Amino acid sequence: MKLKSILVTASLTALPLFAQQQKAVYLDASKPIEERVEDALKRMTLEEKVAMTHAQSKFSSPGVPRLGIPENWMTDGPHGIRAEVLWDEWYGAGWTNDSCIAFPALTALAATWNMDMAALYGKSIGEEARYRNKNVLLGPGVNIYRTPLNGRNFEYMGEDPFLASKMVVPYIREVQKNGVAACVKHYALNNQEIYRGHINVEVNDRALYEIYLPAFKAAVEEGHAWAIMGSYNQYKNEHCCHNQYLLNDILKGEWGFDGVVVSDWGGVHDTKQAIFNGLDMEFGSWTNGMTWGKSNAYDYYYLADPYLDLLKSGKVTDKELNDKVRRILRLVFRTNMAKDRPYGSFGTDEHALAGRTIAQEGIVLLQNRGNLLPVDPAKTKRILVVGENAVKRMTIGGGSSSLKAKYEVSPLAGIEARVGSAADVMYMPGYASPAVAEQDKKGAKAEEKVIDPDKLRADAVNAAKEADVVFFVGGLNKNDGQDCEGNDRSSLGLPYGQDKLIAELVKANPNTVVVLVTGNAVAMPWVKEVPSIVEAWYSGTEAGNALASVLFGDVNPSGKLPFTFPVRLEDNGAHALGEHPGDSINVKYNEGIFVGYRWADKQKKSKPLFAFGHGLSYTTFAYGKVTADKKAMTADESVTFSVTVKNTGTREGQEVVQLYISDKKSSLPRPVKELKGFSKVKLAAGEEKVVTFTIAKDALSFFDDAKHQWVAEPGRFEALVGTSSADIKSSVAFDLK
Ligand code: BGC
Repeated sequence: MKLKSILVTASLTALPLFAQQQKAVYLDASKPIEERVEDALKRMTLEEKVAMTHAQSKFSSPGVPRLGIPENWMTDGPHGIRAEVLWDEWYGAGWTNDSCIAFPALTALAATWNMDMAALYGKSIGEEARYRNKNVLLGPGVNIYRTPLNGRNFEYMGEDPFLASKMVVPYIREVQKNGVAACVKHYALNNQEIYRGHINVEVNDRALYEIYLPAFKAAVEEGHAWAIMGSYNQYKNEHCCHNQYLLNDILKGEWGFDGVVVSDWGGVHDTKQAIFNGLDMEFGSWTNGMTWGKSNAYDYYYLADPYLDLLKSGKVTDKELNDKVRRILRLVFRTNMAKDRPYGSFGTDEHALAGRTIAQEGIVLLQNRGNLLPVDPAKTKRILVVGENAVKRMTIGGGSSSLKAKYEVSPLAGIEARVGSAADVMYMPGYASPAVAEQDKKGAKAEEKVIDPDKLRADAVNAAKEADVVFFVGGLNKNDGQDCEGNDRSSLGLPYGQDKLIAELVKANPNTVVVLVTGNAVAMPWVKEVPSIVEAWYSGTEAGNALASVLFGDVNPSGKLPFTFPVRLEDNGAHALGEHPGDSINVKYNEGIFVGYRWADKQKKSKPLFAFGHGLSYTTFAYGKVTADKKAMTADESVTFSVTVKNTGTREGQEVVQLYISDKKSSLPRPVKELKGFSKVKLAAGEEKVVTFTIAKDALSFFDDAKHQWVAEPGRFEALVGTSSADIKSSVAFDLK
C-alpha cells in the first residue's frame, strides 16, 4: 500500500513537467525556427549553454540531455563520410558498418565545370552523412589555388573565384536538403599547409575581396550554408578561428551569416578572443582526450571551464554566449530536430554511379596528338600498364579527408575490366614510392619494400617495346609532402624518378599515354615527346572504371582545368612576385589579385603549359562570332551575349563555353580578363546550339580598397568567348554608361 502511494505521488509531480515538455515550442518542428530557438534558450542553465559551445569528443559536442536536445555529430568531409574514430583518439574505432562511397576529389568536381555535377555530389554525400547520423559535414573546401605546392589543393575547387562560387552553391544546397549542415572550410586565406597553424597572411583588401572571399560569400549568401569552419592561419595577426575582421565584420556583419562558426581542430588559442571574435564552437583543442585532464579533458577547452569561470565571476556577460547558443540551437533545429528530415542512404550503387559520373565528366584530356586516344581494344593485342598509381589506393591518406571506402577500383582493374578478353593487359610498376603506415590504424607500421629503382624502370621500358600501347599511370599520391594535409610539396616536378621513366617509355614505345593522378599541377619536361596526356585526378570509389571509359572512348572527355599548369614554378604569381611559404611568421601575397591565369595573362613572354579552362574532346567544336544584344548598358541594366557552337566532329560531345570580361580602361590595375560565365553544352555530331550569357554590373566591378566597396567604372569593356583562358575564339566590345 505504502509503495503504491509513493509511486502515485511521484508520477503526479512528474506530470506537469512532462506535460509542459509536450507543449514546448522548441519541440514542435512545425513552429518557426526562431521561436523554437528562443523557447529552448530560456529553458537552459548557464552550464548547459557553455557545454554546447565546445566538443565532448573528437567529433561531437553535447546537446541538452535534460531537454531532449540531441548532440551535434560532425564528420569529414569533403570527399566521403569518414570512418568512425574512437571517442578520444584519431584512429579507427573498428566499426564494420562505416565503409562509405568515396567521391572524386573536389578538384575533379571543379573540373567538370558542371553545376549539375556539384548538385549530384552534394545530394549523394549528404545522403551518406545523414544515414550515418551526422548533422554537420566538414566540407566543402573553397580555398583558392594560389600555388601548386599547397598540399591541400586537391580538397578545393581551383584558382578562380567565379568557378568556385558557382560550384560550391549546389553542393551545399543539396547536402542541406538532408538535414545535414555543410561546414564550408577553411575560412579564410588557408592557402598553404606549411606553418598553417600560425602563419600570418598579408594580403591587400582587393585580393581578399576579389580572389579569396567570393566563394565563401556565395556559400553563405546563395548556398545558405549553416556552418563555416575557421582556418588555422592568422590574418591581421589574429587566428582565423577567432578573428574580428573575418568573422564579426565580414562574415556575420557584411554577409549576415546566421549559422555557426566551427573552429578547425585545434585552431582555438585564447578564451577571450574565442568569446568575442566570432567563434561559436570549439573543436579539437590539443588535449589528449580523457587521459590528459582532470576528469574530462574537454573541460579544459578555452570555451569550457575558463569561459564558465569568467561568466560566473561576472567578468564577461552572457551576451556573446547567448548569441553562440542561439546559432547552435538553430543548427540543431535545422538538422537533427528538423521537420520531415529524410533518412539518407549509405554505400549504395546509386552513390557509386554518381561518383563515377562526376569522375567521368571531370577527367581532362590535356593533349592528344595523332588521336592516339581513344584506344580500340579490338585492334590492340598487348596493353602495358606502368606506374604505381595504376594500383595504389588513393582514397586512403592525405590527412583528414582519408576514407574507408567500401571499395576502390584501381586504374589497372578498370582497364582490365573494360578490355576483358579482347587484349592482353600486362602490369609493371616502373617506379615505387616509399611505404607509409596507414594513418587511421593504431600502431600501424609501414610495410617493408625492397626497391631497386633502376631495375623497376628497366623492366618497364623493356616491356614497353613489346606492347601496342602503353598506359603510364603516375603523378602524385596522398603521402606526406605530396597531395596531403599538413605539409606542402617541395617542387613542381613529379617524384620518384617518374620523369626519367616517362622519357624512356615514350622512346621505347611512341604509343605512350601518360595518365596523371594528382590534385595539383606538375611539371612535364617530356610534354613534347608524349602524344597523349590525361589528368585523371583522385576519382574515388569508381576511379578505374571512370578512367577506362575515357581511355577506350565509351565516354567522350569534357573536363576542363580548374587551375593553370605553369611550365615552371616561377611562372606562378605567388612564386614570381609573392612569397611561399613566407618567413615562417608572415607570408606576403605581393602578387595581389594576379593569381592563376590572371598572372599568366600578364606574362608576355611565357605561356602556361596548360591553361586554366583547357581540356580537349574526341570531337571538335566550331565557334561562331559572339554578339551582344546592346552596344551600351547602364548600371541597372544587363547585357546578353550569344554565340553559336557547333559539333564539327563525328561523335557526341560536351563543350564548356567560357565567357571572360576585359576592362579596357580602369583607374586601378585589372587582370587582362576574368571568368564571368560558363556553360556546358551537349552536342550531337553536327549539332549546333546558341549559348547565351547574361551579365550585370557586378561582372564589371572591382573592389576599391579605399572606398571599401565594389565599383563599376563607366567605359569600354570586352566580352571574350573561348574554349579556355588561352584560346579565345571571338570578342565583342560594349560600354558601361
Ligand atoms: C582539418 C579539417 C578537418 C578537421 C577534422 C583538421 O586538421 O584541417 O579540414 O575537418 O581536421 O578532422
